[in-house]
Amino acid sequence: MSDVEGANSPVDEQLPSGELALRNIRRTFGETVALDDVSLTVRPGTVHTILGENGSGKSTLVKILSGVLPPNRGSVEMRGETLHPVTPRRARSLGIATVFQEVLVAPNRTVTENVFLGQDAWFSWKLRGRARRELALSSLSELSKVKFDPAAEVGKLNLVQQQQIAIARALALEPKVLVLDESTAAMDIGERDLLFEAVARRVQAGMAVIFISHRMDEVLSLSDEVTVLRSGSRVATLGREEFSESRLLSLLSGKEAA
Ligand SMILES: Nc1ncnc2c1ncn2[C@@H]1O[C@H](COP(=O)(O)OP(=O)(O)OP(=O)(O)O)[C@@H](O)[C@H]1O
Ligand SMILES: [Mg+2]
Repeated sequence: MSDVEGANSPVDEQLPSGELALRNIRRTFGETVALDDVSLTVRPGTVHTILGENGSGKSTLVKILSGVLPPNRGSVEMRGETLHPVTPRRARSLGIATVFQEVLVAPNRTVTENVFLGQDAWFSWKLRGRARRELALSSLSELSKVKFDPAAEVGKLNLVQQQQIAIARALALEPKVLVLDESTAAMDIGERDLLFEAVARRVQAGMAVIFISHRMDEVLSLSDEVTVLRSGSRVATLGREEFSESRLLSLLSGKEAA
């Protein structure tokens, strides 16, 4: 076997493998400054929560790192590589899978078709017929005790089931970074706990998560780090030893002295 040149070249020291970094992101909508100079990094094998009141810029940040919306300024880096520009395809090919706040399903398509919706062609070609159905169902069985009919039309399912399909779609990509934008909002505790278990298994294996939720108990139990946004600005990023409910609440409302 011949030597492989560069196989032992040093890894990027600034950004460990799998890490996503947002640098100095700014995004305006007309007069509205949705994000102003927001930076954060997400480490592999951790959950990084973005916490903020309604309209503080969380979903805008998610759309930017997923390539759905361009920033006015700033950059998105994945494993040390700057994505210029960030496109949905590029973000996905680098391992970013996003479950958007507005559930994205094709209502007239089947459960199986929806799990594979928008996947790159090679991924769809590789998996045919039965294998597709089985992967779709096994992803969903992790998230729901209710058995899905792979041939059911998704538009006839309830909101949580549609959300679970969108999550299964993201998990099927075996992402390096999973983004959950208020995915638990409509779930009951049992559904939520199944999701958290599915996520925790993958976090243990090194997946990073960007998590957004208004439920403080979820934030406190799941997060390794919390970045607090207020009116589009990052007011703090705190590690597990630093955050508590009262601290986060005062940062959210702006009542904490710097
Ligand atoms: N497409 C758009 N056009 C105009 N304004 C927008 C658009 N998207 C977001 N905004 C504005 O940008 C700001 C941030 O919105 P964003 O949806 O990112 O907030 P959020 O933190 O996700 O809120 P929520 O908790 O309600 O989901 C808000 O003032 C919002 O009205
Ligand atoms: Mg939002």
